[in-house]
Amino acid sequence: MAKKIVTDLDVTAKKVLVRADFNVPMKDGKITNDDRIVQALPTIKHLISEGAKVILFSHLGRVKEEADKEGKSLQPVANRLAELLGQEVTFVGETRGEKLENAIDALGNGDVLMFENTRFEDVDGKKESKNDPELGKYWASLGDLFVNDAFGTAHRAHASNVGIASNLESAAGFLMEKEIKFIGESVDNPVRPFVAILGGAKVSDKIGVIENLLEKADKVIIGGGMSYTFFKAQGKEIGTSLLEADKVELARDLLERANGKIILPVDATINKEFSNEGDINVVSVDQIPADQMGLDIGPESIKQFEQELAGAKTVVWNGPMGVFEMSNFAKGTIGVCEAIANLDDATTIIGGGDSAAAAMQLGFAEKFSHISTGGGASLEYLEGKELPGLAAISDK
Ligand code: 3PG
Repeated sequence: MAKKIVTDLDVTAKKVLVRADFNVPMKDGKITNDDRIVQALPTIKHLISEGAKVILFSHLGRVKEEADKEGKSLQPVANRLAELLGQEVTFVGETRGEKLENAIDALGNGDVLMFENTRFEDVDGKKESKNDPELGKYWASLGDLFVNDAFGTAHRAHASNVGIASNLESAAGFLMEKEIKFIGESVDNPVRPFVAILGGAKVSDKIGVIENLLEKADKVIIGGGMSYTFFKAQGKEIGTSLLEADKVELARDLLERANGKIILPVDATINKEFSNEGDINVVSVDQIPADQMGLDIGPESIKQFEQELAGAKTVVWNGPMGVFEMSNFAKGTIGVCEAIANLDDATTIIGGGDSAAAAMQLGFAEKFSHISTGGGASLEYLEGKELPGLAAISDK
């Protein structure tokens, strides 16, 4: 990466602003998955050990008006971070002002402070999300250096990433560096054979990724709800399965251009209703009854995908194979997850979102080379798009 990384900065006794992505899932005020906090630890620990004054911040959820602030304070994140670090984390429930400035001035070398959800600034004219120049400049004035470790937010051009980086010497944190290395190298310089597996509900969400990976990968396996638009394009009866009628032409075009590189499932697990209950059956994709919908790939497809994956040296997976939230339609996603996890000698990457959550829930996290902390960001990176948060970091 031609960008500075945190080890390129002399951080000792400096006030170092650190943008992390602590946008963690919460339920009833409790963090339900702390992976994004855990993944931010290497950068934070490095800064502490170098004697920096560490000033952390992040967004959490989306905030449009005052009422949206409810339940979106970063206080629980600061508490969890303190537990993980085994050290005090001073939390300041403000995004600007004297209280915050005084708390920063009081920091000693190796101390850690976290300030409030950056999107609380969105209540008054979307200052954070619209990258208000005054806000980026103000936040930059609070520190001597800026470290951006928020890969999950790198597809956004906000005041807390791009705005600060435009005003201060900056560097990528270790997590940002790792994400770019794994995702970037797998796509741009893969050890072959390179197999991509794409799932999820909609073709429209994945057009850019499919197009980019069709050029770069040796095979592109497509499952999930979006496969039915491809079946329609092949002239198959898809019953009441999910269909994006306005994308059938595009799917046909992609199949033609793919020249056999796109691999579709051969069977489907079907039901009459979008429900976990009912008369659930497996049929060939050529025999989906008119009144039934496909909600998962079937066992033959799992075997077929296993065969296609055999010998792969680089695998990128993004998107579930079926409605995995319903236990009767989770087998395809579990099967694919297992098949990738069991590959010997391959670099295996999950591009964030639902598939990352599925792999973690299933206890396979350790078996993958890399599970991205970015949902939208990893998708845009897989599309080959420039990420503004990354682009704004100082060059080496
Ligand atoms: C994410 O969870 O994908 C990131 O934290 C970005 O959040 P956003 O989509 O609300 O900008």
